[in-house]
Amino acid sequence: MEEKIIILDFGSQTTQLIGRRIRELNVYCEILPYNKFPQGDDSIKGVILSGSPFSVYDQAAFKADLSALRGKYPLLGICYGAQFIAYSNGGTVEPADSREYGRANLDRFDTGNPLLKGVRPHSQVWMSHGDTITSVPPQFETIASTKEVQVAAYQIKGEKVWGVQFHPEVSHSEDGTQILKNFVTGICGCRQTWSSASFVDTTVDELKAQIGNDRVILGLSGGVDSSVAAVLLNRAIGRNLTCIFVDHGLLPNDEFPNVLHDYECLGLNVIGVDASEKFFRDLEGVTDPEQKRKIIGRDFVEVFNAEARKITDARWLAQGTIYPDRIESLNITGKVIKSHHNVGGLPKDMNLKLCEPLKWLFKDEVRRVGRELGIPEHLIGRHPFPGPGLAVRILGDITREKVRILQDADDIFIRSLREWTVKDADGKETSLYNQVWQAGVVLLPVQSVGVMGDERTYERAVALRAVTSTDAMTADWARLPYDFLAKVSNDIINKVKGVNRVTYDISSKPPSTIEWE
Ligand code: XMP
Repeated sequence: MEEKIIILDFGSQTTQLIGRRIRELNVYCEILPYNKFPQGDDSIKGVILSGSPFSVYDQAAFKADLSALRGKYPLLGICYGAQFIAYSNGGTVEPADSREYGRANLDRFDTGNPLLKGVRPHSQVWMSHGDTITSVPPQFETIASTKEVQVAAYQIKGEKVWGVQFHPEVSHSEDGTQILKNFVTGICGCRQTWSSASFVDTTVDELKAQIGNDRVILGLSGGVDSSVAAVLLNRAIGRNLTCIFVDHGLLPNDEFPNVLHDYECLGLNVIGVDASEKFFRDLEGVTDPEQKRKIIGRDFVEVFNAEARKITDARWLAQGTIYPDRIESLNITGKVIKSHHNVGGLPKDMNLKLCEPLKWLFKDEVRRVGRELGIPEHLIGRHPFPGPGLAVRILGDITREKVRILQDADDIFIRSLREWTVKDADGKETSLYNQVWQAGVVLLPVQSVGVMGDERTYERAVALRAVTSTDAMTADWARLPYDFLAKVSNDIINKVKGVNRVTYDISSKPPSTIEWE
């Protein structure tokens, strides 16, 4: 069983980052709500308590009973986590005179303490708290101080319990990774063996044990997450996995046959369903964006369910849900950040259990696992694509003719992004496609006058959309080279019948969104 660190989440914005840093050390970790510590899990090697938006003395502050953990696991409190341990042991936590945000330096620290091994003199740390520990009980030993903060770090004497008031997980804490490494390897004894390969091995074993000989259904979208989940399950249970890939007719050019072919080459047991007739019929004349989305969502569920029902002995529904998809439901402060959209609404009478093998992974980890599984690069490196497909990129009603125009224009844009090479920050050659988060063409509901040869034209306009982003929550328009834009514009107008004008969308999100509808 994979050894792991548990991070108890008290609601800080940087909790995820703690997880990332530990995974980067090749140590597996899971982030759980502060009050959901798993019982009877022998693979746990240590526990980290995160920061929090609350003060320890707030009525509403999240409080955890650590009595069962203390003495059993090494503990590290970060910011609120440190204040909580100090406060609940009789220390004093008060509002800081001046709120302590930003850079500070560890002026004095105990170089012999195992948490601080290898930390350099005056190492810069990042503070971000409105409260501070003003006194610690006698059994606490202060092991680091900054100019402003006397108790920057402490250890409970003779116990494996530490607290740091700064944030080792943020990059501004120069030796933060070293401190986290000291904790997870030196103190907790984790061996740094977690990797994509070990994830694949342990997950395949777990899936075999969990599923046995049951049949599993999975909806494929052509995207990275569902593809990786499918190949992982295929390795575990082979033909007992049935994948359903629905074509709503609103995918990019040739996407359906190409991706279906890729899936077959990967050995997947996949049923491709061409349901485009139904979608076009139901979308006819509909112009309202929300209405379009609703129809597509409803039709998708209907088509998927009709196929799923044919697999009468299915016991599980597998999904490519990844960790960021679940943040909304895990977010213990109750703030809704983003609602996620996976296949929903399977009939209750099918009584399917849910299987989500990627639910602890971040996007880049999913990609690494996909590469480990031998999934081809053109599937792994793909841009995100909206579930409702090109429907949200055709403003106004949807017809086959408009989809054809958009597919052709999109094909030119995406192909050109793949072909245009540039140097990345490390001087390595890459494509513009790899440098943008997402790109596509939007068909506008306007016609304008143009001239081709001696002919007056009165045709459609399209907008190119390309954005940079790290998570799609915010995005900026990509600064694509003018020469590149000129070439794409030229190619589209010359080759795509029905388009005589190309524009470039220079809006960022917020206040705009990535998709136009
Ligand atoms: P917006 O347009 O809200 O999009 O800035 C953010 C990201 O989500 C994708 N998107 C969707 N993905 N189903 C999906 O699976 C949807 O209904 C959907 N709508 C938008 C969008 O392409 C971008 O990556």
